[in-house]
Amino acid sequence: MEVRLNRFLSMCGVASRRKADQLIKEGRVKVNGEVVTSLGVKVDPEVDRVEVDGKEVKIPRKRYIILNKPPYYLTQLGESPDGRRTIQELIKDVPERVYPVGRLDYNTEGLLILTNDGELANRIMHPRYKLPKVYVALVKGVVPRNKLKRMRQGTELEDGFARPDDVKILRYEGPRTWVQITFHEGRKHLVKRFLGKFGHPVIRLIRTAIGPVRLGDLPQGKWRDLTERELRRLFKAVGLKYSPQEVSG
Ligand code: URA
Repeated sequence: MEVRLNRFLSMCGVASRRKADQLIKEGRVKVNGEVVTSLGVKVDPEVDRVEVDGKEVKIPRKRYIILNKPPYYLTQLGESPDGRRTIQELIKDVPERVYPVGRLDYNTEGLLILTNDGELANRIMHPRYKLPKVYVALVKGVVPRNKLKRMRQGTELEDGFARPDDVKILRYEGPRTWVQITFHEGRKHLVKRFLGKFGHPVIRLIRTAIGPVRLGDLPQGKWRDLTERELRRLFKAVGLKYSPQEVSG
């Protein structure tokens, strides 16, 4: 499908459309070896070769990965100013610039999706699309079954009301309880604050699923590409169309 040259350049991450027009006017852009200075030109990204200042530019392929984040890693790219480890170390071998979709706390573990697809990322995070995020938490105290009913009704937190989509007890472990809790929103420290409010501080927190994507047996600290089946289901869950030809990996 043909697109205007300035749009193509912005899709390649070269410049905004307006700045791309400037580059074109300055004669710095070539299409199939010829300098183009008129602004209306269209290109077919599958066929045409576009260069800026003599270097070929291409639309980056979409990449979608999941990482099993270990505890005590910051959910951020690049180095942290205080020397704490970041997830960057764990995805060094992914050549595309992928970004984490939302954050897990420093000491939270489990499923993190990373992608360079901004639209999918927004929809995964936005409560409007109601994509469930499932967490397993080890909490202090023995959670009585009748407390679950109150938890399901929700509670007021300092930044507004919070109600889980689901909460259940997985098992008791001495004076502690393993709880599974699902929210479709992602406010800061939401699970810890919610369970803390009911008198059960979180000792360990693991995210095990985001919509149709499950952590499964991916080892801690490892990543993998999402499968085509997972991508199809994830796109569908947030109301987007999936086009496999745009995906790399
Ligand atoms: N809720 C939390 O409290 N922490 C996380 O990292 C994710 C959800």
